[in-house]
Amino acid sequence: MRNLIDIVDLSVEEINELIKVAKDIIQNKEKYSHKCDGKKLATLFFEPSTRTRLSFEAAMMELGGNVIGFSEASSSSTAKGESVADTIRTVGCYSDIIAMRHPKEGAPLVASEKSVVPIINAGDGGHHHPTQTLTDLLTIHCEKGRLENLTIGLCGDLKFGRTVHSLITAMARYQNIKFVLISPKELEIPEYVKKEILEKNNIPYVETNDMEEYMNELDILYMTRVQKERFFNEEDYLRLKDYYILNKEKLEKAKEDLCIMHPLPRVNEISVEVDDDKRACYFKQVEYGKYIRMALILKLLEVK
Ligand code: CP
Repeated sequence: MRNLIDIVDLSVEEINELIKVAKDIIQNKEKYSHKCDGKKLATLFFEPSTRTRLSFEAAMMELGGNVIGFSEASSSSTAKGESVADTIRTVGCYSDIIAMRHPKEGAPLVASEKSVVPIINAGDGGHHHPTQTLTDLLTIHCEKGRLENLTIGLCGDLKFGRTVHSLITAMARYQNIKFVLISPKELEIPEYVKKEILEKNNIPYVETNDMEEYMNELDILYMTRVQKERFFNEEDYLRLKDYYILNKEKLEKAKEDLCIMHPLPRVNEISVEVDDDKRACYFKQVEYGKYIRMALILKLLEVK
């Protein structure tokens, strides 16, 4: 039985195969519409979500399966003190696969050790968000036609942004990738990501707090929200929340084929005037998320 806790649980070959299947689903939706007949997905969300939970649910429904679950811890027996381990053992009696989001780093890993059905980490604290990374990889592959030879700018909250940590980990396995890490000092990428992923794999990177400094070199600009929920005090959040706001003016020197991404939700970091720019890919990214999750469900349920 396979789980997906961290993006490195999947080999590059497996990721490439998931992308291939997702693209086939996009082209041939009908072919997949009964692949999960009789199967149930449980979505256990102990933390808020719009895209991840609903795209998982839509994915299972489009495969012909059904969905059960909860969208907040307060409506489950967690509110009465039940442990994650007991919740997982219980839900495994009612479902074939579980997608779980939890504010505590490592909770999905603990869950996978107790579970009798596959566990998918749908985001754990500031740690990992592997299905967002699969979404990002499918988006890059569809929009740029490749996962190699790319200069990727990551901008905003690089400290707490779990999508950034997972994306760097994934892209570090492809050829000729360069990173431009754009953040204020307080929200710099953690040391362990620099040392254990970038430097260990000889991946070139630069750090800057100036969003426009390397704009003309970027193939991808990945914007992120300042993660309010992970701040220890309101004052620091208020000071940093609008540090970067991408607008038309800031894109003046950008390449014509730049791909602007954002895992969403957006707060202020991309001005709505950018939404009409042909380089804005973040709502396409939302849609790709459903297709790659369909491919992942098929893989973990071993549906041919
Ligand atoms: N990208 C993402 O994880 O969005 P949600 O928090 O809405 O699921």
